[in-house]
Amino acid sequence: MQSIHNKVSNETNFYGGNDPIELIKEYGSPLYVYNENILRERCRELKNLLTYPNFSVNYSVKANGNLTLLEIAREEGLNADAMSPGEIFVELKAGFKPEQILYISNNVSKEEMQFAIDNNIFVSVDSLSQLETYGQLNKGGKVCVRFNPGIGAGHHEKVVTGGKKTKFGVDPSFIPQVKEIVLKYNLKLVGINQHIGSLFMEGDKYVKGVESLLTIAENFDDLEFIDMGGGFGIPYEKLNGQKRLDLKDLGKKLDKVLFDWTAKYGKQLTFKIEPGRYIAAECGSLLGTVNAIKHNYGMKYVGTDLGFNVLARPVMYDSHHDIEVFREFNVSSTRSEIVNIVGNICESGDIIAKERELPEIFEGDIISVLDAGAYGYCMASNYNNRLRPAEILITSDNKVKLIRRKDTLEDLIRNF
Ligand code: LLP
Repeated sequence: MQSIHNKVSNETNFYGGNDPIELIKEYGSPLYVYNENILRERCRELKNLLTYPNFSVNYSVKANGNLTLLEIAREEGLNADAMSPGEIFVELKAGFKPEQILYISNNVSKEEMQFAIDNNIFVSVDSLSQLETYGQLNKGGKVCVRFNPGIGAGHHEKVVTGGKKTKFGVDPSFIPQVKEIVLKYNLKLVGINQHIGSLFMEGDKYVKGVESLLTIAENFDDLEFIDMGGGFGIPYEKLNGQKRLDLKDLGKKLDKVLFDWTAKYGKQLTFKIEPGRYIAAECGSLLGTVNAIKHNYGMKYVGTDLGFNVLARPVMYDSHHDIEVFREFNVSSTRSEIVNIVGNICESGDIIAKERELPEIFEGDIISVLDAGAYGYCMASNYNNRLRPAEILITSDNKVKLIRRKDTLEDLIRNF
């Protein structure tokens, strides 16, 4: 293999000495590759975020629900969040105990809520009407309510989940009504949670959101836990020198707020966070193959098999992912050029990297899309009846393990 443009994976020993080109030959293209060491490191970093004694990291499985990765997160001592009965099912399969799972529900049917109750999964409800439903289904039970503190954060308006213009959480001005419903069904409100949005790189907004949530918490006497939400960002522009989120600084600020508040509340609670992206994004890269090169009206198009059916983020949120290039045979070129890297889906928006400056790329090159471990495979689809790729893990001892097979053509008709 010729080393072309792969600084980040070299520095992290991402492939553990395995050749990405050989991996593609064996498992097919495109291919999601995960690195176990990086996953474990990210879990540990967040477990050590606070010195506050009762602190739990609930991995937000929506970011990547691969069973093997979930098992690793569980081994690292993380708990889990679920957004659907499907996520609850997968988490139980990965060995999480019901009491380690928090179901953060949003506009769910009675049947879904009942599924959680039947499996002894703790439920957070997100509106007065869902609190009523919960009360009817589980009189006398324990419940958690998601509040919207009026503050939002996130990398794109579609992923800002707190603040005055989103569907999530209960507006705190309805706290009296929350109390009435709790009383009516003899419920015990033992937890409150929030999630203000996805991807912050400066911790101050998060801390502000937590302070607002703590003010809300003062209205309730029986709390056992407060879940402060996820959203911890990762640097997607590493090649431009983007800095990491300063977890040390954030941890220090949060610790202070939590210790001070506990002294006021008079009782130590459990504090939880719900990170998804921070845990899973950087342990995953997406490999694909350059099938064609063309020039259209002055722009070079690098045509790959990395359509938005495989990674939706660039098309859905204009997200940036750094790109690496691997080459099997030596080609001498020192040129760099501005190109569009595009996929194979029949929509003109199918662009994975727009007007990106990269070394000259040739047919047959392998492209690696970095930081694709979160919201990558889980948002992949069979659009255009394309097959979703395989997922492999580079284990801590640098072995390669298939952790989900590639779809087959038969999979496309299995529900008919
Ligand atoms: N908790 C709740 C209630 C959430 O809705 C989310 C994400 C999380 C936790 C985890 O957020 P994280 O730590 O991963 O930022 N598909 C988008 C991200 C959507 C996030 C949805 N909710 C993307 O690719 O950027």
